[in-house]
Amino acid sequence: MARDKITIVGAGNVGATTAHIAATKRLGDIVLLDIVDGLAQGKALDLAQAGPLQLYGCKIVGTQDWANSADSDIVIITSGVPRKPGMSRDDLLTKNVQIVKDVSEKIAGYSPNSIIIVVCNPLDAMVYTAAKVSGLPKNKVIGMAGALDSARFSYFLASELGVSADDIKAVLMGGHGDDMVPLPRFSSVAGVPVTELLDEEKIARLIERTRKGGIEIINLLGYSAYYAPAAGVVKMAEAILKDKKTVLSCCAYCNSEYNAGGYFVGVPVVLGKTGVEKIIVLNLNESERAKLEKSLTHVKQLVAKVDKLLK
Ligand code: NAI
Ligand code: 2OP
Repeated sequence: MARDKITIVGAGNVGATTAHIAATKRLGDIVLLDIVDGLAQGKALDLAQAGPLQLYGCKIVGTQDWANSADSDIVIITSGVPRKPGMSRDDLLTKNVQIVKDVSEKIAGYSPNSIIIVVCNPLDAMVYTAAKVSGLPKNKVIGMAGALDSARFSYFLASELGVSADDIKAVLMGGHGDDMVPLPRFSSVAGVPVTELLDEEKIARLIERTRKGGIEIINLLGYSAYYAPAAGVVKMAEAILKDKKTVLSCCAYCNSEYNAGGYFVGVPVVLGKTGVEKIIVLNLNESERAKLEKSLTHVKQLVAKVDKLLK
């Protein structure tokens, strides 16, 4: 049986780390593509040389040539400018919309049957851009943010409670921004809602740290996080390639769901071979609905800016 083919666009921090984790999990053959001369080629060769030590034997090709990406099963878009200290994700929009537009045109030409996972920020607006420009079915254009944000929330909950992160299921919705909506009522430790284990003040503190999770790392490092983001991308790619029907928060197209009205936003979904196979509609209370509405309003404002730039 032919191996699955994964193209990762952008051989920077998130792209190269995604390639490494995907190889160690033996997800398929990997094409790493970048515009910078030698960058993808050098990293791909280094990754391939780790194969005999880490016991993976997949093909890893580094390239600047889109022809090498032809007929990919999954294309992951990490090509984009990351934030620096003092910047918001929204500050990246003008630059990244152009990159995502160019890349999405290439994907439509070379891998029209692929599933796209978008990583670039501002995430929800870049997913919209990729879907609009590529013309791929909307259930096949998916954004990675919920996996990362819920992993951050899970880690903070596990640390606070002194339990294994394995036992935590954290649920989070909304856009990938400061107005994301962690949902403690639906987040649990071995089946017990966290609202029964922690008081409101403690939960509010962990939610705030989750919302600011990206900038906390940028302020420490001087650049953007990549280990946990790459792990989030691989979790999604694995769910799709192995048809796992994994339930995970992803940026997905919602119309009647949550009254979103035709926007890509973070929601819990079932991920399988065909991409987003189902959107899980939670019975939100009034306060949760209001927070999601606020986050969605922000996403809509960014999408309006994208539409202007794409004209
Ligand atoms: P990076 O700067 O390390 O890597 C980006 C790479 O993309 C560079 O090597 C650059 O040469 C390449 N690139 C730029 N234009 C290209 C094009 N047209 N074709 C091919 N390659 C191109 O940045 P990093 O840290 O890997 O972040 C990438 C993006 O992902 C940023 O926009 C960042 O904000 C976003 N991000 C999103 C996360 C999420 O949760 N959704 C988490 C972490 C990062
Ligand atoms: C993060 O949350 C920068 O979006 C990126 O780490």
